[in-house]
Amino acid sequence: MNELTVLILAAGLGKRMKSQLPKVLHPIGGKAMLTHVVETAYQLKPKRLIIVYGQNKEQLQSAVPHHPGCEVLWAHQDKQLGTGHAVLCALPLIEQDLNQRVLILYADVPLIESTTLAQFLQNTKENQFGLLTAVTQNPQGFGRIVRSSQGAIEKIVEEKDATDSIRQIKEFNTGMMLVPANLLVKWVKNLTPHNAQQEYYLTDIVESAVSSKISVVSTMPKNLMEVLGVNSREQQMFVERCFQQRVVQKLFMEGVSIKDPARMEVRGELNCESDVEIDVNVIFEGKNSLGMGTKIGANSILIDSQLGKNVTVLPFSFIEGARIEDNSVIGPFARLRPGTKLAEGVRIGNFVEIKNAQIDAHSKINHLSYIGDAVVGKRVNVGAGTITCNFDGAHKHQTIIGDDAHIGSDTQLVAPVSVGEGATLAAGTTLTKDAPPGKLTMSQQLSQRTLENWVRPSKIDSDSNRNE
Ligand code: UD1
Ligand code: CA
Repeated sequence: MNELTVLILAAGLGKRMKSQLPKVLHPIGGKAMLTHVVETAYQLKPKRLIIVYGQNKEQLQSAVPHHPGCEVLWAHQDKQLGTGHAVLCALPLIEQDLNQRVLILYADVPLIESTTLAQFLQNTKENQFGLLTAVTQNPQGFGRIVRSSQGAIEKIVEEKDATDSIRQIKEFNTGMMLVPANLLVKWVKNLTPHNAQQEYYLTDIVESAVSSKISVVSTMPKNLMEVLGVNSREQQMFVERCFQQRVVQKLFMEGVSIKDPARMEVRGELNCESDVEIDVNVIFEGKNSLGMGTKIGANSILIDSQLGKNVTVLPFSFIEGARIEDNSVIGPFARLRPGTKLAEGVRIGNFVEIKNAQIDAHSKINHLSYIGDAVVGKRVNVGAGTITCNFDGAHKHQTIIGDDAHIGSDTQLVAPVSVGEGATLAAGTTLTKDAPPGKLTMSQQLSQRTLENWVRPSKIDSDSNRNE
């Protein structure tokens, strides 16, 4: 069995995107299109991956992950003279090993699935020429597949070169091809740019195959969305919607309940256990995971966070780089910043910000607080308006609060400082020294007094003012 080389064409200019960013680096589902195609290619276990690029090699390189056992090679196409010319630029690399089959993919067709490609590899015999084709009622812009009356593929005609009758053909070229390396090399060298666009069309090699009596066989993708290309912002948006639908379908299969699939977005990877519930307008970025029975309230954003089982995130919460254990309740309007670690059954309420802090089991920080650079023990109650003063203008300092401590409302903990186990801080305390365990500590407490002769100020002549 011949080994596989995957050739990805990524040199197109992408002019219609009107962007500084190279087209193939535009994201779908939070990931560059090129990365999607490369990752899909890796699932076929190719021996080599060749990427044809035009500009911005370094930028493109950073979007290509590595994979054990697969060599990544780069071929430069100086001028974008067409898909055939792009392959021509890669010929020196292809010629290094002619006992390969070459699978050609496009970096701007990001949703192609590895199962479809595996089927394509299987359907196409070693000595055959494989084409991935599809049928649609409106194949506008695509090259059409021209077949003989017996149904054999004869050629591909680009829309710009097509007669009206060829334009009526509904079967189109997806661009993806599978060709024995030795034949590809021979045919591509013979291409000429004699066509409407004066480009070297890769598709012309179909006629070379037919005249050399190499059989041309076609395979169709399971789903039309797999072969949609991105040339404009509008198409990018459409392909993005298709990607999101695919993500949602997968989540449904895993037993996730999504209130409105059109109002949820996954920009990255989302892993869910069953009985997860996701309300409307939730965005997931980066790598997130949600344990069984966890519920995400409306208008929440989760970034790179792991949530355990039966966690409840109430609406309007922003959670980034956090680890949350089972049965915790977050929000509404909570902000968890990177380095937040919440143990089981923790309660974080509204307008609470947590950063780089561990909160141990069953502790509660329910209202209007900032807890940063802190280690908080078990069953601690943090009153409303508590602030860890962690920054002295130059450095960050840590606050440590022992198990069962009770922090009164409106307390400032001036770090570095610690509160002993079971300690109580009176409301309004500004803690600058460690508070001993089990005792009540307070600071700057003004004893309460009432001014007997005090009169509340009032506006002079208030009645005439009101009449103006
Ligand atoms: C191509 C096919 C067409 C097919 C369609 C499917 C040809 C002649 N036409 O047309 O039959 O229906 O794709 O989407 O092959 N590229 C380069 N260098 C170049 C030109 C293109 O690397 O000089 C790359 C692009 O980055 C892109 C791919 O090749 O990834 C396709 O190029 P594009 O110009 O979009 O091809 P189409 O005109 O759409
Ligand atoms: Ca073109």
